[in-house]
Amino acid sequence: MTLDNKQGDPAILSALGHLSSTWTWGRPPRLLTITHRPPQPAVPTTLASGIGSQTAADLVDQWIDKCRRHRGLVDVQRDLGVDAVGVAFETGDQHVLYAMDRSGVEYLVESQRSSPARSVAGANLGGQALDGLAEQLAELTWRLAGWAAPTAGARIRDMWPKPGLVDLDDDELHDRLAADAGYVRLLAVTSIDGLAALNGTSAALSSPGDQRVYQAVKRDADVLLVGAGTVRAEQYGPTPLSALQIARRRSMGLAPYPTVAVVSRSLDLDLAGPLFQRHPGRHVPPRPIVITPAASAASIDPALAERADLVVAGETDVDLALAVQQLRSRGHQRFICEGPSLAGGMARAGLLDDICMTITPQLLAVPGPRITTGPSGPVPATDDWQLQRSLIDERGNLFLRYLRLPR
Ligand SMILES: NC(=O)c1ccc[n+]([C@@H]2O[C@H](COP(=O)([O-])OP(=O)(O)OC[C@H]3O[C@@H](n4cnc5c(N)ncnc54)[C@H](OP(=O)(O)O)[C@@H]3O)[C@@H](O)[C@H]2O)c1
Repeated sequence: MTLDNKQGDPAILSALGHLSSTWTWGRPPRLLTITHRPPQPAVPTTLASGIGSQTAADLVDQWIDKCRRHRGLVDVQRDLGVDAVGVAFETGDQHVLYAMDRSGVEYLVESQRSSPARSVAGANLGGQALDGLAEQLAELTWRLAGWAAPTAGARIRDMWPKPGLVDLDDDELHDRLAADAGYVRLLAVTSIDGLAALNGTSAALSSPGDQRVYQAVKRDADVLLVGAGTVRAEQYGPTPLSALQIARRRSMGLAPYPTVAVVSRSLDLDLAGPLFQRHPGRHVPPRPIVITPAASAASIDPALAERADLVVAGETDVDLALAVQQLRSRGHQRFICEGPSLAGGMARAGLLDDICMTITPQLLAVPGPRITTGPSGPVPATDDWQLQRSLIDERGNLFLRYLRLPR
């Protein structure tokens, strides 16, 4: 879980602290909603109490089930302005108050029978006792409280085929861009004049709206096929996903994180880079895959072979069609492809079905790569593409989705 950089809300922690100080020992698990909206700041609302031997996890489960069955309940809770949901329970000699807010930040207040309350906020709380609860609570938070408001500049609306009058929430955004299983999608950002990188990275082309789309698109991907040039240039690592996004992936039957598969001939990959690091969080991203031709695999560094799964496809260059086929045989169905040279190779091999691209309102007028590059020579037979949808954010970024027409 990637919560370390998110700030906790002191009002939520203070509501939990208050509840902790009034706790009576011997109570069953109790479910809480917390709101600090006017007129009464820091008012916790007790939703339900557990009975008998129910655990905190059972209680949350029951509520998720109720929320699923009674949509009205969700609306009522949203109207109350719920900021976080939590659960209070005892384990042994300890009383635990554990909550999660709309943006996935976790809160923990623990108190011993014999000593005053100890508080931790917004950290990556990897405690064994809370394992599994975070995911359920994320689901409940989403159902009761809704998604967090987008960051400044990241409000997005429909543009075509129908212009939208209201901002899209994260689920609506995901729905707009969702693709069928089996697709291979190119994900890219470009300036008005077609530049895909400035000073060696695409960072200057991105924006809060682009990041939102990037996350929405990656939410249902199970493999990210990336060129080694992008891994090197962008310090590419596992996609940061919030607890809520992980909960949505799990509800779709997907692993918490997509697998990263790097295509490389040189195998010049930084083993100290973020892609190959172990992560201390509750959900560990899957081992990366390295796809390389037989000629390179023969002399692979044993340290790389230890940190990644190896897929060999092709003799001196990676045969991209074979690579995709091998990943499919490992169970990967939803592909996202990133990197101009790799994208060019995929396009020439006719392997792309879907393109999600952002056009950022910048005119850069300097040399640089386009979103696909490739060798000069005769133009291969091109596919026909059709615009399927466009969205716009408040800063004028355009988000376009194209689908390849059947051949
Ligand atoms: N605007 C955007 O959407 C976007 C997205 C991603 C990246 N970028 C930018 O694009 C730049 C990198 O461009 P790039 O063209 O180098 O990126 P790339 O496509 O990510 O990487 C190219 C490298 O991938 C490997 N590769 C690709 N196809 C292969 C094949 N068939 N067989 C064997 N190896 C293959 C090779 O790795 P080896 O060299 O290891 O052999 C090759 O040098 C960076 O500035 C990055 O920031 C922009």
